[in-house]
Amino acid sequence: MAHKNILHMLTPQKHVSPFDLNMALDAGYDAVLPYAGVAMEEVTELVQDVIFSRPPDRGVRSAVFFGGNDAVLALDMIEATKKALVPPFGCNIMADPSGSYTTAAAMVACIERTLKNRHQKALKDVTIAVFGATGVVGYCAAVIAALEGARVKVVGHDGIERISKRAKEMEARFGIEVEPVDGSSDEKKTALIEDVHVIVAAARAGIQVLGKDQIQGASKLLVAADANAVPPLGIEGIDVMDDEEAIEGTSAFGIGALAVGPMKSKTEYGLLQRMIEADEPQVLDFRDAFALARTLAS
Ligand SMILES: NC(=O)c1ccc[n+]([C@@H]2O[C@H](COP(=O)([O-])OP(=O)(O)OC[C@H]3O[C@@H](n4cnc5c(N)ncnc54)[C@H](OP(=O)(O)O)[C@@H]3O)[C@@H](O)[C@H]2O)c1
Repeated sequence: MAHKNILHMLTPQKHVSPFDLNMALDAGYDAVLPYAGVAMEEVTELVQDVIFSRPPDRGVRSAVFFGGNDAVLALDMIEATKKALVPPFGCNIMADPSGSYTTAAAMVACIERTLKNRHQKALKDVTIAVFGATGVVGYCAAVIAALEGARVKVVGHDGIERISKRAKEMEARFGIEVEPVDGSSDEKKTALIEDVHVIVAAARAGIQVLGKDQIQGASKLLVAADANAVPPLGIEGIDVMDDEEAIEGTSAFGIGALAVGPMKSKTEYGLLQRMIEADEPQVLDFRDAFALARTLAS
């Protein structure tokens, strides 16, 4: 008899994301069980309840998924889950808080493809400015790009202090280097993008990060990507549907939020299916999401 694939979906927030629930059932899970308001201290007990309820060889048919809206807390919950396992009892582990891991992975994969197709360059050849890097999508995009060898500047919209703390946290956790930059005025943003090849706009929905004049003044710009689909869009001059479209008045190409969306969905779906099909328990975060997204993009 085939054993059922069961996914336990945990979030620190009030509600588990209906998007993720639908996605998991469509990917093939037999049951997806939501747990809302989960605190860090409760992870061990819940995970051990999951693993001890089935014989060890069926652990691979169980999975724990972390949602929420905090990229770092989700990483901490993955670590807490790994520590809670009692071999040979185990289970699959995945996180995608607010869809951020798979969105950032898809965005960076689209940027990588555009750099290659349009400029014959790789991520390791470029300097990237990430706006919104204290948020979940920007955080992951910055780390993925830095792990791929890009020089990454993370931009603070309210001065240098908070973004510097975030940069230190990224560096300590992932062994990367990222440079915090003050983007608290239009003048500062104009000056800092003069020196970058790629822009990632991952600020809050409905906030315009850069205007047309600023983008047109960025003489080294090769690619710009915007995660925001809610008007006003994050970068003036890049439409939501743009997918490697030339940006007027520049030599750069733009990627809009709705060009990233389908690849984000395919990536999340693909990771969920990977856990269903796995012979050994998987641990999946935004690095795995990027590895999959770049194969989908190429
Ligand atoms: N395409 C997709 O499939 C997809 C999926 C998920 C999300 N998204 C989009 O991606 C974007 C980021 O989402 P998120 O979930 O990461 O959002 P988030 O966690 O709310 O983060 C938003 C970021 O924007 C910053 N911010 C706030 N006000 C700002 C301002 N006035 N100027 C510049 N930056 C400002 C925030 O800084 P603080 O630290 O001060 O809050 C934070 O760094 C949103 O537009 C969202 O709609 C797209």
